[in-house]
Amino acid sequence: MINVAVNGYGVIGRRIADVVLLQPDMKLAGITKVRPDYKANSAFRKGYKIYGTDEKSRKTLSDAGIAVKGVIKDLVSEADVVVDASPEEAGSQNISLYKQLSKKAVFQGGEEQDIAGLSFVAQCNYERALGRQFVRVVSCNTTGLCRVLHSLDENFGVSKANVVIARRATDPDDSSKGPIDSIVLDPATVPSHHGPDVNSVLPNIPIVTMAFKVPTTHMHLHSLMISTREHTTRDKVIETLERTNRVMLVDGKGGFKSTSNIIDLAREMGRPRNDIYESVIWRDSVSVIDNEVYLFMAIHQEAIVTPENIDAIRALVGETGKSESMDTTNKTLGIRT
Ligand SMILES: NC(=O)c1ccc[n+]([C@@H]2O[C@H](COP(=O)([O-])OP(=O)(O)OC[C@H]3O[C@@H](n4cnc5c(N)ncnc54)[C@H](OP(=O)(O)O)[C@@H]3O)[C@@H](O)[C@H]2O)c1
Repeated sequence: MINVAVNGYGVIGRRIADVVLLQPDMKLAGITKVRPDYKANSAFRKGYKIYGTDEKSRKTLSDAGIAVKGVIKDLVSEADVVVDASPEEAGSQNISLYKQLSKKAVFQGGEEQDIAGLSFVAQCNYERALGRQFVRVVSCNTTGLCRVLHSLDENFGVSKANVVIARRATDPDDSSKGPIDSIVLDPATVPSHHGPDVNSVLPNIPIVTMAFKVPTTHMHLHSLMISTREHTTRDKVIETLERTNRVMLVDGKGGFKSTSNIIDLAREMGRPRNDIYESVIWRDSVSVIDNEVYLFMAIHQEAIVTPENIDAIRALVGETGKSESMDTTNKTLGIRT
């Protein structure tokens, strides 16, 4: 059993901790918290071992009546792999502890591209992560884009990808950020950081991305315009996307008019926290005009990197092949293949 520590128990860390426990080959060593809030109480009620990120947070948690097992160093010491789900760029401070204790670690997309020496999306480059000490699971938007571009590139050759991303303003648990009544260029300059991030996984795909924030917490929405080297048709593209791992097609005519309908589908499916792990593409939107593929895709920012983190853990341990890992992860999460 791979003993997994989750450092950071926010939007991403909470999901990874729960899903580690669904894996037949993993156990949860524990999680870290800073604040003694309802999320800490929820972890406590689930029976998770809780550690402070430092002495100060250990004391704060303990003073609030939460049983704390120790501090981050104690947790990391007993783990085989650490999933660092701390806030953006905190991983660059935490990495020295993992190095000091010679532990393997999975970082998240908020870290600099070079933190781990390899940016990871399971279906694109699982093999390259086998046995490594560190890997960085890329951000939600990059993960969704890499799955689709990698598949279209393998089948038709992608000569250019242009992507416009309408980004959710913030996550549902965060009432402190906007925009409320505005569309915010994110940034006004071109390209946004997403294209270069895709190139950290798929260096040979020319891509330009533009992004802006809209007042929603549900999902991101991507408009993709992709030039292919080989001639293709709408039917061939749809058939390819239907075969692509962790991609789901939905139909506008079937009632999927918006991202809200996709989150509603997750409720109907009984998915924990309404999570959608797949890149969701509107079948109706898929069009081929003059060798250019057009489509709309929605990304559930809170959930899409969950399966990638689980596969990244197995890749670092180095004892499980890509198909076996992805199949196990998919099965435990209810992802259809
Ligand atoms: N949210 C998304 O949509 C999303 C999607 C994909 C990737 N990511 C990436 O995933 C990472 C985590 O993001 P998130 O949205 O989960 O953040 P988050 O919700 O703010 O959670 C961060 C967690 O880390 C804890 N923490 C604070 N300082 C820490 C430290 N120094 N060491 C360890 N833990 C610390 C916080 O503790 P308290 O709860 O006690 O304050 C909190 O539990 C970031 O790199 C982000 O870019 C986020």
